[in-house]
Amino acid sequence: MIMSASGFPSLALGCFLLALVVAPHVVHGLSRSLTQGGGAVAPSASAAGLCASEITIHGYQCQEFDAVTKDGYILSVQRIPEGRAGGGSTNKQPVFVQHGVLADGSAWLVNLPEQSLPLILADNGFDVWIANSRGTQFSRRHTSLSPSNPKFWDWSWDELAAFDLPAVFDLIHEKTGKKVHYVGHSLGTTIALASLSEGKLVDKLQSVALLSPVAYLTHITTALGIIAARSFLGELVADFLEALCARPGLDCYDFLTAFSGPNCCLNVSTVDLFLKNYPQSTSMKNLVHLSQTVRDGGLAKYNYEIADFNMEHYGDARPPVYNLSNIPHNVSMFLSYGGQDALADPKDVQLLLDSLKLHDVGKLTVQFVKDYAHMDFLMGLNAKDIVYSQVLSFFKNQH
Ligand SMILES: *[C@@H]1O[C@H](CO)[C@@H](O)[C@H](O)[C@H]1NC(C)=O
Ligand SMILES: *[C@@H]1O[C@H](CO)[C@@H](O)[C@H](O)[C@H]1NC(C)=O
Ligand SMILES: *[C@@H]1O[C@H](CO)[C@@H](O)[C@H](O)[C@H]1NC(C)=O
Repeated sequence: MIMSASGFPSLALGCFLLALVVAPHVVHGLSRSLTQGGGAVAPSASAAGLCASEITIHGYQCQEFDAVTKDGYILSVQRIPEGRAGGGSTNKQPVFVQHGVLADGSAWLVNLPEQSLPLILADNGFDVWIANSRGTQFSRRHTSLSPSNPKFWDWSWDELAAFDLPAVFDLIHEKTGKKVHYVGHSLGTTIALASLSEGKLVDKLQSVALLSPVAYLTHITTALGIIAARSFLGELVADFLEALCARPGLDCYDFLTAFSGPNCCLNVSTVDLFLKNYPQSTSMKNLVHLSQTVRDGGLAKYNYEIADFNMEHYGDARPPVYNLSNIPHNVSMFLSYGGQDALADPKDVQLLLDSLKLHDVGKLTVQFVKDYAHMDFLMGLNAKDIVYSQVLSFFKNQH
């Protein structure tokens, strides 16, 4: 298994630990807000939104939208309607870009414009929509709940699949009248697979590109101890890691490696930029749900761990499974995974491919990038040439 430089075991909950490493106060703030109803982190820095801080500064047009979910969350969505050189905004195919856990839409934009997927898509004639999941800095809003209310944080990725994705699909479809291409990274792939397996999204979907797809987390086993220990995880690990990572820079970079795999192709300055915005807050329930995915070896809904509670929520003592074989076999899919990825381990991606084996011939395109780890797909310096070029031609070939 992967170990960090200090010998501390790495984990599927590595993302959680990274959170503690990089910004212990965020998770403390979060757990406080979960357990005692206080201390949610206020929207930070560029309150003007992602358009102003990350997109228009590079010379692109950008519009801010809100998507309201059926359960009342108000999600910030950015639209880049045309490329830097202009070219008009009519009759373009929309692409929905979805980040992973503990990140937000800015995670796609840390590299130079000509290396960043959303901007590359815009420059290649697509109408680009960047989503920000509930709880992240620009989507910490709700029609009736305040972020300081623990109820605000009562959700896991089940709700991202059931409510966040459909809300953004609806918004894009309403504004463009077109079917939507989707591209997700990491948890952004998990929630799309879950949603599709329940027959959602399909009527508004043109095609799906999954980068570093996470459906099974079976091959990350050292998380188990952490999961068992999760009730005291906060205190125990935060102190340890605060010491480990008191200084920004290299230690944190090493930890990024420990949890995501040995990324081949990152720009160290870019990683520093990324870590400034990372982690974004998420709910404890979401992280627990992820840890259950590791423990239970398949994709299922959140487990309340007590049969009666599950019975109450699901009418069954066990949480329902997301059956990936139920994803409509004619959905056009592109899937790209890396040989060095510690989160989307190649063996786990193989399990995912097995569950898609009845997919229509010609509707599933798979790319394997031997040297890539988890973060290379998001911000590798050569991702443009190796992966995004494939995503572009995949989208361009859909009708
Ligand atoms: C790495 O990132 C820095 C800061 O954004 C940038 O100035 C530099 O050109 C990047 N290097 C490469 C090779 O793209
Ligand atoms: C998933 O669905 C397929 C086909 O609908 C079925 O054959 C299979 O038994 C299901 N798997 C599970 C784990 O429910
Ligand atoms: C996929 O199959 C479904 C059901 O068989 C059908 O309604 C739909 O039109 C098909 N979609 C495409 C893109 O072929």
